[in-house]
Amino acid sequence: PLSTAKQVGKWSANYIIEKINAFNPTAERPFVLGLPTGGTPLATYKELIELHRAGKVSFQHVVTFNMDEYVGIPSDHSQSYRTFMYENFFNHIDIKDENINLLNGNAEDPQAECERYEAKIKSYGKINLFMGGVGNDGHIAFNEPTSSLSSRTRMKTLTEDTRLANSRFFDNNVNHVPKYALTVGVGTLLDAEELMILATGFNKAQAVHAATEGAVNHLWTISCVQLHPKAILVCDDPATMEL
Ligand code: GLP
Repeated sequence: PLSTAKQVGKWSANYIIEKINAFNPTAERPFVLGLPTGGTPLATYKELIELHRAGKVSFQHVVTFNMDEYVGIPSDHSQSYRTFMYENFFNHIDIKDENINLLNGNAEDPQAECERYEAKIKSYGKINLFMGGVGNDGHIAFNEPTSSLSSRTRMKTLTEDTRLANSRFFDNNVNHVPKYALTVGVGTLLDAEELMILATGFNKAQAVHAATEGAVNHLWTISCVQLHPKAILVCDDPATMEL
C-alpha cells in the first residue's frame, strides 16, 4: 500500500514504463498492454503522459486492448469508454491509431464482436500486462458478481449497484446509465502475463479484502487475482482498511 491515490498513479505508471522499456519489440511482437477506464486509473494516465512528454517512454511499439465498453450509447458519446480513452490518454501520446483496440459497443452482432476481440488478442500470443481497476462490489472489468471465473469476452447485464456507482458520470441519473456492456472475461484477464489492479479509497476496501483474504469465488470476481501467478495489487491506505 501507498499513502495516496496520487502515489498509486505514479507507482503504476512507472511500473508500466519499466516493462515497456525492458521489452524488445518487433513488428510481429509489440508490447501488448491491457487498459481500464474509471476514476482510479486517471492518475496513472496523467503520469504516463508526463513521462512520455519528458521522453521517458514511447508507445510506438505498444498495442493496447481496453477491457470493456458500454452497449447502447454512440461511440462518440462523452461517457463512452472510447471517448474516455482518447481524451484521457491516447490523444496525448505517440501510439499509432491502428494499435488501439476497443470493443465496439454498437456492433450489429455483439457476440461476433466479442469473438473478433478474443481472436485479435490471441493473434499477439498474450497480453504482457493488463492493468485494471475494481468496482465497489468487487467486479473486474464488467465481470459482475456471478460471472464465471473462466469467462471470455461477452456481453453482460450491469447490476443496479454498478449502474448507481457509474451514474456520477451520467448526470447522477441512473436511468441514463447503459444497461449492458461488452467486457473481456475473467479468463481473458487471467491469461495475461501480468495483472496489475489499482484500488484507491475506502469504497474499495471490501473489494481489496475479497481480493486478498476472501475465498476465490464468483461473487467477488476480483478474487481471481489469487489464481494468477503474477498479480499485483496497488492500493492507497484507505483501500486497505478492511485488511
Ligand atoms: C467500471 C469499469 C471497471 C472499473 C470500475 C471502477 O465498472 N467497468 O473497469 O474498475 O468501474 O471504477 P472507478 O475507478 O471509477 O471506481
